Amino acid sequence: MNITTETKLEKLFSPLTIGKKELKNRIVSAAHAVGWEADGLLYEEHTRYLERKAEGGTGLIIAFGSASVQKDSSASYGSISLWDERNEPAFKDLADRVHNHGALLISQATHMGRRGTSVIDGKPISAPSSVPEGVHNEIPHVMRTDEIPSLIQDFANAAKRLESCGWDGIEVTSFGGHLIEQFWSPKLNNRTDRYGGDFEGRMRFSIEVVETVRSAVSEDFIICFRMTGDPMTDALGLDREDMLKIATRLDQLGCIDLFNIGRSTNANYKTQAATVPGDTFERGLNNELAEMMKEHLSVPVMVAGRILDPYQAEEALLQEKCDLVGITRAIIADPDMPKLAEQGEFSRIRPCIACSEGCIGRLYSGMPMICTVNPAIADDSLEIKKTSAQKQKVIIIGGGPAGMEAARISAEKDNEVILLESSDQLGGKVLLTSVSKERPHYGLHVNWLKEELVRLGVQVKTNFNGTTKSILDYNPDVVILAIGSIQFNPFQKNTNVVTETEILSRKIPISSDKKVIVYDREGVYRGSSAALFAAEEGAKKVEIVTPHWSISDKLDDMRKAEMYSLLGKNKIMHLPNKELTVDQNDQLVIKDIFSNEDRIVEDNALVVLVGFEEGDNILYENIKSSLPEVKLHQIGDSVAPRRLHDAISEGAHVAANL
Ligand SMILES: Cc1cc2nc3c(=O)[nH]c(=O)nc-3n(C[C@H](O)[C@H](O)[C@H](O)COP(=O)(O)O)c2cc1C
Ligand code: SF4
Repeated sequence: MNITTETKLEKLFSPLTIGKKELKNRIVSAAHAVGWEADGLLYEEHTRYLERKAEGGTGLIIAFGSASVQKDSSASYGSISLWDERNEPAFKDLADRVHNHGALLISQATHMGRRGTSVIDGKPISAPSSVPEGVHNEIPHVMRTDEIPSLIQDFANAAKRLESCGWDGIEVTSFGGHLIEQFWSPKLNNRTDRYGGDFEGRMRFSIEVVETVRSAVSEDFIICFRMTGDPMTDALGLDREDMLKIATRLDQLGCIDLFNIGRSTNANYKTQAATVPGDTFERGLNNELAEMMKEHLSVPVMVAGRILDPYQAEEALLQEKCDLVGITRAIIADPDMPKLAEQGEFSRIRPCIACSEGCIGRLYSGMPMICTVNPAIADDSLEIKKTSAQKQKVIIIGGGPAGMEAARISAEKDNEVILLESSDQLGGKVLLTSVSKERPHYGLHVNWLKEELVRLGVQVKTNFNGTTKSILDYNPDVVILAIGSIQFNPFQKNTNVVTETEILSRKIPISSDKKVIVYDREGVYRGSSAALFAAEEGAKKVEIVTPHWSISDKLDDMRKAEMYSLLGKNKIMHLPNKELTVDQNDQLVIKDIFSNEDRIVEDNALVVLVGFEEGDNILYENIKSSLPEVKLHQIGDSVAPRRLHDAISEGAHVAANL
């Protein structure tokens, strides 16, 4: 099938009946937690976030992630409490606001079982049997038989509450290794009561949940069921044929209106990473599992998993892989994606760069979700496209992501904007990041920004000489300095020391007869990426040395799992808790931080430094002293080197407040 940008997205924008309700198009925002509430209550910020998606044209919003049905279940990542009646006014408000935009609204509902954690509130986690999960590794309380009926009723009460608040449905989930999936598994369910034993016994809990929910709500109320199509591990004792058998058995109940199919399960760090697949996974990886289910089930099937643009979604629908397409992160990156796609304005859609850094990465590190490329998603004030009180001449120095975002928003506000870049192209450090094979999408955002700057009439000048006089000659009202950071290198005397920038740009080639030692002071992904790059370029042997507790220590669990697989496959050695330093003879040594044991770096090894620091502030001081009346701002890595989302967010904030 040849889908091109000329293809009309007719299938994507065609209606579909689910149960007794009609959906205006096939685009779904799949369930996800945002980690913005600590107390399980829904507040305005989250309500607006979900309303924003409906405003942008998404047809079905599956709200919340892992929203909890049971008061006594352990909390997880600030999930919303469906059991709490105090949420009712906010639930009603959200339903009204989503419906005003013609979208349907359903809520995910779950009990996480052994996948919860007692760390947040001290409540014990509970499960069918006493088998810990491989991420939190907590021993669960084994649910007594008499505890189960009230939990089943909790699912039904949650559905009733949602319906009474005007919601269109509920998504009961087993996906991601939640309690229902644990009951199905012959390896996790050793029970001898009616909820264990043979296939029918292990199915009983899920069957009773689905039937009790159905009997608690009207026929109009949608029941969606989310499950994995293949756990991709032998930890559960279930494979894709078993999952098909389970789905078919549930379908036969005649209670479910929609199935939502994913992949993998949260049995351990490796399988967890595949449940919200990052950029090392192929696009549309779950489509084949949805197709398998669709062939056997009597109701529509939805799929989610690395569907990044409307063409890919249209293709999946036309190929009959699914009936509905979950586009989660791409809609976080641009909630207007459906509307823009329908209007044919594809180049205006801000692409998700599949970094997972701002969204799932932060969430799984216990921080509230943001989006790397779209700071407005977590800060609605940045959405307002008000014009500045007076048209100003804004000069931005530095064409990296911070400067480009500042230029974009300044121009959106009808200012005259000139962007000056010292190199011959825009993009800054991101250009080199996208050289790495495991970061293939990073350049998409730079390309989008470039096109937006053209559309908005920003004057871009590359190869800019950077003198204070040439800046002041523009007679600016506002100057924004976004000149980036410089690579740290305290070892200038040692000729075998180079920087990450020099190898990624291939200024310094990697030779196959040399060992490469990457010294990673940052501890996020750059060090590991540089090591992988060196291995792929044919280095004889590659080691990563870092002062952190572990390699890529500051990387979140999801990306770390993938990174470690790649490091392992490339036989890259991990040397954590070590500093690179020099001895009294200026000889490079690697010294253990705790034992002080050291090792001289071999003369013929190439040492690659990873880490940045603030450049000099001369430009700032010169402009300040020459033109004190100019509004002068400094943003991004030029203030202090940080993450990509910090740079973009500072660009957005400074321009929004002009
Ligand atoms: C920040 C974030 C949180 C998520 N939380 C949940 C969750 O609580 N429950 C769930 O079933 N899926 C959750 N997901 C998975 C999404 O529903 C979806 O399956 C996944 O993002 C893949 O789709 P995508 O590639 O279109 O983003 C989460 C995803 C993200 C990005
Ligand atoms: S944080 Fe990254 S992966 Fe997540 S939605 Fe934004 S761009 Fe996409």
